[in-house]
Amino acid sequence: RTHRIAVIPGDGIGPEVVREGVKVLEAATTRAGTFRLEFDWLPWNCSYYRRHGRMMPKDGIEQLRAYDGIYLGAVGDPSVPDHVSVWQLILPIRKAFQQYVNLRPAKLLAGLESPLRHKEARDLDFVIVRENTEGEYSDIGGRLHPGTPVEMAVQTSVFTRYGIERVARYALSLARRRRGRVAVATKSNGLAHTMPYWDEVIRSCRVEFPDVDVSFYHVDALSTLFVLRPETLDVVLATNLFGDILSDLGAAVVGGLGVAPAGNINPEKRFPSMFEPVHGSAPDIAGKGIANPIAAIWSGAMMLEHLGHPEPAAEVVRAIEQVLAEGRVRTRDLGGTASTEEVGDAVVRALEHP
Ligand code: NAI
Ligand code: MG
Repeated sequence: RTHRIAVIPGDGIGPEVVREGVKVLEAATTRAGTFRLEFDWLPWNCSYYRRHGRMMPKDGIEQLRAYDGIYLGAVGDPSVPDHVSVWQLILPIRKAFQQYVNLRPAKLLAGLESPLRHKEARDLDFVIVRENTEGEYSDIGGRLHPGTPVEMAVQTSVFTRYGIERVARYALSLARRRRGRVAVATKSNGLAHTMPYWDEVIRSCRVEFPDVDVSFYHVDALSTLFVLRPETLDVVLATNLFGDILSDLGAAVVGGLGVAPAGNINPEKRFPSMFEPVHGSAPDIAGKGIANPIAAIWSGAMMLEHLGHPEPAAEVVRAIEQVLAEGRVRTRDLGGTASTEEVGDAVVRALEHP
């Protein structure tokens, strides 16, 4: 069986980390010997934008529809406003392919230490389920009275019953397969229309999952829990904006953005899902060959799992842990001196020599 993968390396460190990710995926595929991956490289990024005035071709979404998976580095360049690069590439893909779950594991890999000092923080393993298609990241809004003293900007959040129910059911059934707990991020004391509705729809879904323990936290209080008692977290369910913020915090407590993977998932598999590191294009370190490729490699493993290959996926994660535990080959963000490529090569070696 062959899976066709669209690779979008993107900008900055995106191409640097994706190259290592593809190298590891190829090694894992060869070892498994039961399926094949076929990669097509799509040069859709900010330099494409500078040449064509758009981040991807007009029929970009149609082209992507033919693939089984999308593997993305990151987009964003100082020469192009971020709202253009993100709004014209990543958000249209997430929406068009109903990738309504943004799954962001926050697991402390063997060999890594949490910056949190207490001993319970030695064994962190939770996962953030971020709603990925609606909520605060809507395109409804605009500027009023530009250039006058009463100029203003308005941005409307959109929460639909359909949208909340499907992501809530995903989080609840994921919790059932894990430790049976969901922490819901809300802010019903401040956002008086949308957040009480979010809570209400989630409460109506939870009756289908009597075995799952659901707690609601205001997002500000929940953020303290991430730092003070992260070991109590299992599945965190959050809106698009809150999930975005919490997942960087989640990444920080388990080793940083260099090791934080993500999947933009269409659970029904009607459309391709997209896998990408949580981090962005990191212009501050781009071109130096020092970016940590682990987040991208782990995102690739999540793609393998989604495509129906859990064993090779687990082997890749084990290989990453072997490299981290040996401790010799690490990039600077983890206190080492290795290059991006050296880490990719070390993961391939660890895969081949467990
Ligand atoms: P960023 O994640 O690119 O960088 C934040 C900090 O983390 C920087 O100091 C960077 O050097 C460091 N860092 C990130 N990834 C790393 C890695 N793999 N290894 C070592 N260090 C790493 O976030 P920032 O600076 O807010 O955004 C930069 C650009 O990326 C912007 O244009 C932004 O819009 C874009 N971006 C794109 C995303 C995407 O494509 N999904 C997600 C987040 C940001
Ligand atoms: Mg983010």
